[in-house]
Order: sequence, then C-alpha cells, then structure tokens
Amino acid sequence: MISVNAELCTRCGQCLRVCTTEIFEMRDGIPAMTDGGEDYCIKCQHCLAVCPVGAITLNDKTPADCAPIGPLPSPEHMLNLLRQRRSIRHFQTTPVEPDILAKLQAALAWSPTGCNDHRLYAVLVNGHDAMASFREPTLRLLRWVVKTRIPQLISRRLNQVLKRILDGEDVIFRQAPHMVVVATPKNAPCADIDPTIALAQFELYAQTLGLGTLWCGFAYFAFRLFRHLRRPLDLPKGYRVGGVLLFGYPDITFHRATCPDPVLVKNISL
Ligand SMILES: Cc1cc2nc3c(=O)[nH]c(=O)nc-3n(C[C@H](O)[C@H](O)[C@H](O)COP(=O)(O)O)c2cc1C
Ligand code: SF4
Ligand code: SF4
Repeated sequence: MISVNAELCTRCGQCLRVCTTEIFEMRDGIPAMTDGGEDYCIKCQHCLAVCPVGAITLNDKTPADCAPIGPLPSPEHMLNLLRQRRSIRHFQTTPVEPDILAKLQAALAWSPTGCNDHRLYAVLVNGHDAMASFREPTLRLLRWVVKTRIPQLISRRLNQVLKRILDGEDVIFRQAPHMVVVATPKNAPCADIDPTIALAQFELYAQTLGLGTLWCGFAYFAFRLFRHLRRPLDLPKGYRVGGVLLFGYPDITFHRATCPDPVLVKNISL
C-alpha cells in the first residue's frame, strides 16, 4: 500500500520515473498507483528513497525509517578492500562479539535479489560447540570416503591431504568459530545467484570489521547432497543451501596484496 502526502508532494515526477514496473500515474496532479498496480509492485522502495521531500510511505515504511545518504569509501579505499580480501584458513578461537554479529546480520537486508524476491534465509552458526554439530558429522563422512580408497584411485596428488583427513585435521571448516549459510527458496527467480551476492557483500563488510572469511565449497556441496549434514540448519520447507562462508578473527597477517594475472577482458565498442 503506497500513500502520497499531497501537502508535501511537489509534483516533480521522480517517483513515476524510478518505478521499474511503471505502476504510478498522475491523478489530479498527484502520483497514485494505477488500478491493479499493487500486484506488480516488487517492493523495491525506490519510490520511497527517491522522493526529495519524503512524501511517500510504502506499507509500514516511512522516510524516517530510512538511513540518510552517507559518505562512501573512496575509490582507493574500495580497491584496497577488494585487493586485500584474502581467504583465511587460520582463525583465532576468540568468538566474534554479539554486537559485531548483529551488524553483519543486519547488513544482509541490503543484499539485492532477482526481482527483489528477498526471501533469503541466513543461518549464523556461532561458537565452537555449534560449529562442532556440523564439523564432526561432515568430517566423519569425509573420513569414511577416504577409507574407501576411492579418492586415492582418482589422484595420487590427494595423498597428502587424505592423510591429514585421516589424522583428524579439520581441512573443511578450518576450526573457524563461525559460519554463515545462506539459503533461498528453490523457486526464487535467481535462486542460484542471490545467496552468492549476499555472501560476497557479507565478506567485504566483515573485512571492514577486522574479520577474515573463507568460502567453504566443500560444506556447500555436503549440505546440498546430504540431508543429515544440513539438518541442524533447520531450513524452512522448500529452501535450498546457496552458499557457505566461514568467518572469525584471522590468526594470520598478510603483508601485501597478491598480484594476480589480469582477467581476460574483451571490449565491444562500435
Ligand atoms: C541476480 C539478480 C538479477 C537481476 N536482474 C535484473 C534484471 O534483469 N532487470 C532489472 O531491472 N533488475 C534486475 N535486478 C535488480 C533487482 O530487481 C534489484 O536488486 C531489486 O529490485 C532491489 O533493488 P536495489 O538493488 O536497488 O536494492 C537483478 C538483481 C539480481 C540480484
Ligand atoms: S516499491 Fe518499487 S515497484 Fe513498488 S511502486 Fe515503489 S518503485 Fe514501483
Ligand atoms: S517523488 Fe515525491 S515529490 Fe516527486 S512527485 Fe513523487 S511523491 Fe511527489
């Protein structure tokens, strides 16, 4: 439900212009929703955010609920963030403080989703004991696979890591004190992409809070394939794991950025 405060509205038309589903029209000089337009609203809140005088209220959201426009990191700082993000495989045992966890959790709300579906579901697993309920069954399964000797047949190069697995080393969860798992409904328009975007944003923000992260591809596949491993996540019905990220305070310091080869880029200009 959208309402426009006619006394505040200056008739600038920016709300009509910004609405991607074009469900606004001018009625008696005031923006109003077209008949049946409500059904096409994707609740992106662009109309709420664009109005220069704060005349629009959208459902229960008012301009006063929105954060003001604040300063952005400089391009240099942003590039540092991208360049200095590293996969962290050594974590301190110290857990992340509740107020920092709350900030990370709250920031997930601004993750874009295809068609603004916004039905992301995040599970934060916090602390050694909670992590153990995922770590132990996953590593048990992994040790069982190694004992079948099938991985050894696939590649001799795996021998070193297979020995570490049999010795009980946590090569999957890296003794991280925290993990965030993001899931989406299978029928979300961009179900395969939305969780990745959410976690990519999460890890950059985490870095600004002094945290290190590791994308955990093995846990992603393990949770997708084995119901008993994902059961403690207690996902809502119809939801599927879309990405897994480990995080915590890093127990390693990098003294410079890496120096990757440039990505091949093709420019098309006519
Ligand atoms: C995976 C993905 C695909 C998207 N595809 C389109 C698209 O094809 N066309 C479009 O206009 N917007 C697209 N969007 C933008 C979303 O509609 C937008 O993120 C959402 O409405 C929230 O608005 P915001 O990004 O301004 O917060 C896409 C977003 C994502 C994450
Ligand atoms: S919330 Fe988005 S889609 Fe809905 S009326 Fe506003 S701009 Fe249009
Ligand atoms: S953006 Fe705000 S001021 Fe401009 S026409 Fe829409 S409601 Fe009126």
